[in-house]
Amino acid sequence: MKEIVCLAIESSCDETAAAVVRDGRIVESNVIVSQIDIHKKYGGVVPEIASRQHTESINLVVEEALKQANRTFDDIDIIGVTAGPGLIGALLVGVSAAKGLAYALKKPLVPVHHIKGHIFANFIEDKSLEPPFLCMVVSGGHTHLIKVKSYSEFEILGKTMDDAIGEAFDKVARTVGLGYPGGPLVDQAAQEGQDVCHFPRPVFENLNFSFSGIKTAVINYVHKTPEFNINDVCRSFEEAVTDVVITNIKRGMKQAGMNKIALAGGVAANRMLREKLKNFCEKNGYQFYYPAPVLCTDNAAMIGCAAYYDYLDGKTADLSLNATANLSIEKDL
Ligand code: KG4
Ligand code: ZN
Repeated sequence: MKEIVCLAIESSCDETAAAVVRDGRIVESNVIVSQIDIHKKYGGVVPEIASRQHTESINLVVEEALKQANRTFDDIDIIGVTAGPGLIGALLVGVSAAKGLAYALKKPLVPVHHIKGHIFANFIEDKSLEPPFLCMVVSGGHTHLIKVKSYSEFEILGKTMDDAIGEAFDKVARTVGLGYPGGPLVDQAAQEGQDVCHFPRPVFENLNFSFSGIKTAVINYVHKTPEFNINDVCRSFEEAVTDVVITNIKRGMKQAGMNKIALAGGVAANRMLREKLKNFCEKNGYQFYYPAPVLCTDNAAMIGCAAYYDYLDGKTADLSLNATANLSIEKDL
């Protein structure tokens, strides 16, 4: 079969990214321009600024992705793009660029669900991974335990009822006085700390998650303890949230009769989560998959991978494609 070369674009939040991916799993280039330094001084992503930055970077990022892959537009077979969920103005920049390219090159346009991209990063990392497996999606906006039944069928086993796990990390970072984005800084501080605070570890009868109680416990502790130790608070918080995630994965694996578990999303880069899950899998004889850090954060290679499988499944769009800020996981994945 002829190879399929995908030019993929991702612009759902604060990273402008383009990649060239061959046959879904071979990454020929993966270019990411991060806006973190620009948003840092505001303590979070400013949507209006994000859109403007995407507009400035998008063409350069696409050109660089082609250059690094040693490709020209003539080599491209399909255009993949994140169509949602995300910041609407940010998404529109990528979707408009992708539509323009699809029209000019007369190539199929493949809209990709951002969370599907995060899950599919695992197929790039491990070329032998095949469904079915469980995937724990832990990102800034989502916390979902998903049964990946095939490349196109997904079942949600559990999800957060309040904050996403990444949101909780970012909020805790702000509470203890660390900067933005908080996750990597909490990860770093926790390495030096001890679990002295014993924050709660809420679990439910079903496989849903709740992080707002842990977050509030951290805020209360910090307010009541003038001389709190940042490293200890971060360590205690991480121990609590990772215990909750591992508990639900443990139950989910049994319930779904699975022996493979993958991590996905920005928080999948967290060292304690990886370590605990690795130990748990070793003890139970489960296979554990996790993407390299560059494939955990927002990137276009993962979008190129998902676009390839969606294309094989006939899921292309015409030029009326629109970006959707709140594309659902339950219905649209
Ligand atoms: O998946 P992602 O890049 O963007 C979304 O689609 O949301 O996830 C971003 C989230 C942020 O909340 C960030 O603080 C968190 O991932 N994060 C981490 C780590 N690296 C990024 N959280 C904990 N530990 C990390 N090492
Ligand atoms: Zn993401």
